[in-house]
Amino acid sequence: MSSMASTTIYRSYSEDETKEIGRRLGNTCASGTVISLRGPLGAGKTVIAKGVAEALGITEAIVSPTFTLVQEYEGSMHLHHMDLYRIDGVEEFGGIGGEELLYGEGITLIEWSEKIEPILPAHTVRLSIAIESDGSRTITVTGVEP
Ligand SMILES: Nc1ncnc2c1ncn2[C@@H]1O[C@H](COP(=O)(O)OP(=O)(O)O)[C@@H](O)[C@H]1O
Ligand SMILES: [Mg+2]
Repeated sequence: MSSMASTTIYRSYSEDETKEIGRRLGNTCASGTVISLRGPLGAGKTVIAKGVAEALGITEAIVSPTFTLVQEYEGSMHLHHMDLYRIDGVEEFGGIGGEELLYGEGITLIEWSEKIEPILPAHTVRLSIAIESDGSRTITVTGVEP
């Protein structure tokens, strides 16, 4: 039996605080980790990706993969950064060869992962960002020790 998933809730008042959560994730997660990033447009999902990339020593600029669907970077581990905003669902995801990235090496970050919810691996780390009325972000992380 796997251990119980832990949940940590953060409140972030700035882009850099959110990026720091990404850095922490990048420093904690082992190769093979899939990180699901949920939250509305402009929540900070790509900011989290930038923090993870920093932790992996990636110096290349992280660009939003909204149109390319997936960007690949090389650091201390591979980083695949996906944005499924323009994907309809599991079938289309399979069509672009997405499924193998769920079981590959390195870290795979997936924005708008709810599009492929049924096929997310059981070990997926789930991060959800809510925008509060004061502009701060509530960030809930499940599935990894902080
Ligand atoms: N606390 C915060 N955490 C993250 N981003 C924030 C925060 N406050 C303001 N922002 C701004 O919100 C935007 C988030 O953009 P982005 O990460 O591209 O969103 P998403 O990928 O979720 O659509 C950035 O312009 C960032 O500067
Ligand atoms: Mg984004």
